Amino acid sequence: MTPYVADPVYLNGQFLPLAEAGISPLDRGFLYGDGVYEVIPVYSRRAFRIEEHLKRLQSTLDGIRLTNPLTTDGWKAVVVKLIEGAPWSDQSIYLQVSRGADNKRDHAFPPATVPPTAFAFASPLVTTPADVRTKGVAAITVPDLRWARCDLKVISLLANVLARQQAVEQGCAEALLMRDGYMKEGAASNIFVVRDGVLCAPPKTELMLPGITYDVILELAAQHGQPVRIAEIEETELRAADEVWMTSSTKEILAITTLDGKPVGNGPHAGQPGPLGQQMWQWYQDFKNTVMRKG
Ligand code: PDD
Repeated sequence: MTPYVADPVYLNGQFLPLAEAGISPLDRGFLYGDGVYEVIPVYSRRAFRIEEHLKRLQSTLDGIRLTNPLTTDGWKAVVVKLIEGAPWSDQSIYLQVSRGADNKRDHAFPPATVPPTAFAFASPLVTTPADVRTKGVAAITVPDLRWARCDLKVISLLANVLARQQAVEQGCAEALLMRDGYMKEGAASNIFVVRDGVLCAPPKTELMLPGITYDVILELAAQHGQPVRIAEIEETELRAADEVWMTSSTKEILAITTLDGKPVGNGPHAGQPGPLGQQMWQWYQDFKNTVMRKG
């Protein structure tokens, strides 16, 4: 069986087999979910938008007042070495930094002498099978129970975990998070909506993760003259949408074709991936094969 995590992994300055990578049970990532992470897709052994991912890592670290244990070049060197060591051409790199392990449990920060824990590994990039993509996936809406800094990519993901599990238990691929009558994003994805030929996306606020794929989609839309509206998406607009998509580094663009058991869209495409989503998927593939795979 293909292992999910490649050897070696990176832990606190060392490259070592996963089976030998150990951390203290007092690590604050474990005790408090006190840490941050990134997921970077790799195409043809090239990390995609690594600068942007490392910038987002830095803003999240700044947001939780944790010093970055590595420089940008330091992280890049770790990523290059993980990519080289892994057997797959397309990969997903996971980076995590926690606030380290003190010798006791205390909510307040540990002394500055306690180093952060830095962990990273490579796994295969699992893409959506063509039959799933061409059919689209089902999603549900759930109340957004997260905190008020959803723009930070932190490892405390309990509300996201519970929302995604609720979706899975209902045979769905994603849960759309609703707050104050607006759709913010998915449990682990950004959400786009198409209405009357306009691509609509929620704005980047403290209540949504600023997705790297979200930026790529908006760049592709601008390049191809696709009209875009960046504004909060009301629940009524979501339910009346012609198309709904989820986007992320690992899922790319995936059509949501049923929402809370009802088909998305009206007319001939109801309950099926719509034309703009298919077009965007093609633009994304062309971009990936020309720009991304070439670095
Ligand atoms: N999740 N919103 C949330 C809440 C996410 O967790 C993610 C990504 C995104 C999309 O961001 P990006 O396009 O940068 O991948 C939006 C990753 C893949 C994860 O948690 O595994």
